[in-house]
Amino acid sequence: MPTFESRHGLDSRAGTALFLKRWLRRPFAMGAVIPSGRLLTEAMARETVQALEGRPGHVVELGAGTGEVTKALLAAGIPPSRLALIERDPELAAFLRRHFTEPKIIEGDAARLPELLAENGIAPIAAVVSSLPLLSLPTDVVNGIVHGVFEALPPGGALIQFTYGPTPPVPSALRQGLRLFGTRGGRIWRNIPPAVVWTFRRPPAA
Ligand SMILES: C[S@@+](CC[C@H](N)C(=O)[O-])C[C@H]1O[C@@H](n2cnc3c(N)ncnc32)[C@H](O)[C@@H]1O
Repeated sequence: MPTFESRHGLDSRAGTALFLKRWLRRPFAMGAVIPSGRLLTEAMARETVQALEGRPGHVVELGAGTGEVTKALLAAGIPPSRLALIERDPELAAFLRRHFTEPKIIEGDAARLPELLAENGIAPIAAVVSSLPLLSLPTDVVNGIVHGVFEALPPGGALIQFTYGPTPPVPSALRQGLRLFGTRGGRIWRNIPPAVVWTFRRPPAA
């Protein structure tokens, strides 16, 4: 019986080798040495499906890398036509294009999210799933990215983001400024490194 990977033509070993190569080149931009493990990607996908709550529109994935979270989103039943992947690294974007034919793949900087979505005609947005290494990015860059995400999301829409750190991946000043509330999943110890999935929402204006 064909596996999910063979059906989707995704070679995990090639992905891991490329990921490591890009980490050696740009460790802070990659934020991890190897792609996310299955338990973490499944948790990200579960949170995303829950956050959709029947909302129409696209699921936007930031920092898609070699597509491990993408695979989990597809396996969780999100139709490929609803997925838009954003990846800044040209080699990784080319890898994604070779392995995923249906989702929209955009090579670009997540800090320009609203512009990238407008340029590519992607609207409305139902949820944003991010594996960006927010902990290793400068505060002003994180501010710009998170502001862009909540500019793109409709009221009540969710940002799903994992972190390896002990604190929420969106800093407290930024959460307060945007009136975000976050919910924390359990730590996934069997990921390298162990990770936590957070979901952030901004309540609809009163
Ligand atoms: C920790 S890796 C996650 C890759 C994959 N989603 C996974 O979970 O295995 C972070 C990814 O974000 C990408 N990235 C970093 N900064 C970015 C930015 N500003 N815009 C878009 N992608 C970015 C990196 O190139 C890398 O592929």
